[in-house]
Amino acid sequence: MPMVVELVVAMLACVRIGAVHSIVFAGFSAESLCERILDSQCSLLITADGFYRGDKLINLKVIADDALQKCRDKSFPVQRCIMLKHLSKVVEAIPLSSQSPPAKRPCPDLQQEKQKDRVKKIRPVPQVPWNPEVDQCWLSLLSGVSEECEPEWCDSEDPLFILYTSGSTGKPKGVLHTIGGYMLYVATTFKLVFDYHPDDVYWCTADIGWITGHSYITYGPLANGATSVLFEGLPTYPDVSRMWEIVDKYQVTKFYTAPTAIRLLMKYGTEPVQKYKRDSLKVLGTVGEPINPEAWQWYYSVVGEKRCPVVDTFWQTETGGHVLTPLPAATPMKPGSATFPFFGVVPAILNESGEELEGPSEGYLVFKQPWPGVMRTVYGNHQRFETTYFEQFPGYYVTGDGCRRDKDGYYWITGRIDDMLNVSGHLLSTAEVESALVEHEAVVEAAVVSRPHPVKGESLYCFVTLTDGVSFSRTLEAQLKKQVREKIGAIATPDFIQNAPGLPKTRSGKIMRRVLRKIARNEQDLGDVSTLADSSVIELLFQNRCCGAM
Ligand code: WT7
Repeated sequence: MPMVVELVVAMLACVRIGAVHSIVFAGFSAESLCERILDSQCSLLITADGFYRGDKLINLKVIADDALQKCRDKSFPVQRCIMLKHLSKVVEAIPLSSQSPPAKRPCPDLQQEKQKDRVKKIRPVPQVPWNPEVDQCWLSLLSGVSEECEPEWCDSEDPLFILYTSGSTGKPKGVLHTIGGYMLYVATTFKLVFDYHPDDVYWCTADIGWITGHSYITYGPLANGATSVLFEGLPTYPDVSRMWEIVDKYQVTKFYTAPTAIRLLMKYGTEPVQKYKRDSLKVLGTVGEPINPEAWQWYYSVVGEKRCPVVDTFWQTETGGHVLTPLPAATPMKPGSATFPFFGVVPAILNESGEELEGPSEGYLVFKQPWPGVMRTVYGNHQRFETTYFEQFPGYYVTGDGCRRDKDGYYWITGRIDDMLNVSGHLLSTAEVESALVEHEAVVEAAVVSRPHPVKGESLYCFVTLTDGVSFSRTLEAQLKKQVREKIGAIATPDFIQNAPGLPKTRSGKIMRRVLRKIARNEQDLGDVSTLADSSVIELLFQNRCCGAM
């Protein structure tokens, strides 16, 4: 669903009746949605007709139908699909630049409304495919239903929701959170980390399709009775002052966003920010990836005018809520450091052999004891939960992040040290992108690494080895990008695709990603390459590098 209040209503409605929700970000493809429906064996899908991302129309119902058809093809028919008519309510007269898709069987209500409303001539609602055996309109379901609904009484350890996150094997993991611990943890962290007071107006710009939206739009703020801004739109649309305009409009006091958004807005200078007063702001939060000190300084000095503490909150889908974070105005800040653990969280830094390092050090970030909001299992695969998080270093929860502790005991996240990439704060596994690439008949092997990107943090740099006789071309490159977008979603679209007649491998056949990472970044010092089976591929790969801005 788009970022509309009905999404929050749907989440809470599930909880009320004891159902488990699994929200899939609206930017995912039909294939990704189908994969998640099958894994969670879900019985009901809730979606909307569509929404606009800036000027672009996203036909959610078409994607949803496509996913349901794929499920049917895999002998898993989902019995019900509820569709919220969202675009039929849009009253902004913004010209439409996208075409509506051809209708299959349109929802009758929608067509009638279309006739009635003049505005839709300017920004029309999409005609949605409609299958009366499965589909139901949200509004028509509400009519005649009692406003009273007795809650289903649940155990504190009953599941609250599942949220899929990328896994290093390529198959997404259904992270399962339970009612009592999660709610307690997000309510407490929200209250303390944003120094919440009842007269606050809080705004988190994340999408509810990610854990930030679950914990710090829906559950944490609402458990505190907070007033929130729910924003369906882009920070740059219709112009790059949009965020600050909204801050002034609603007198936002606590603001929470991602480094990628800060870096994006930084590019446009201070003027679009200074056009608005922003004097209501009290605390600025950041989450999703390491924030570079330059972006931190801009956020602190330009947006917050050095009045507002910045809370750099480190956490994960798996942790439920903040685990390393400053408390605003209480913890002395260091730009780029998530500072110290939250109460009850006990971090440690381990070396390769799993020994705990003391004092200033760098290594694997792990946690030594559970806290209320930690995930309980990988849905339907408890074994995977154990192997992913607890096997590498027995007795510890492994985050997958690298971390440095300085002489003052501050923690600095250095980024992922597993096969994961962080693009604009969204985690992707190299394996899922690679498998989408090799599904193309022209590709025999693919290896994906990250390359630094000034706005997105990391970008996807893909090496592909082609089938004998196929030559690399712009057309093929475009096809491969499209293939990944269709398989996974727009967030996974590769930035660079390089023809790799050979890949650097060890004698046992393992691809040396470390070497590929250096090639993608044009770093000549490759370190120890003595285990390479054939070092001649290296020179060729350097010659064929994709240039483009870093
Ligand atoms: C990964 C978790 C937590 C909600 C959004 C992402 C990175 C997250 C920070 C931060 C440095 C950060 C880590 C982490 N990350 N916040 N403040 N500083 N890195 O949730 O998709 O589960 O991703 O995001 O790499 O492991 P997620």
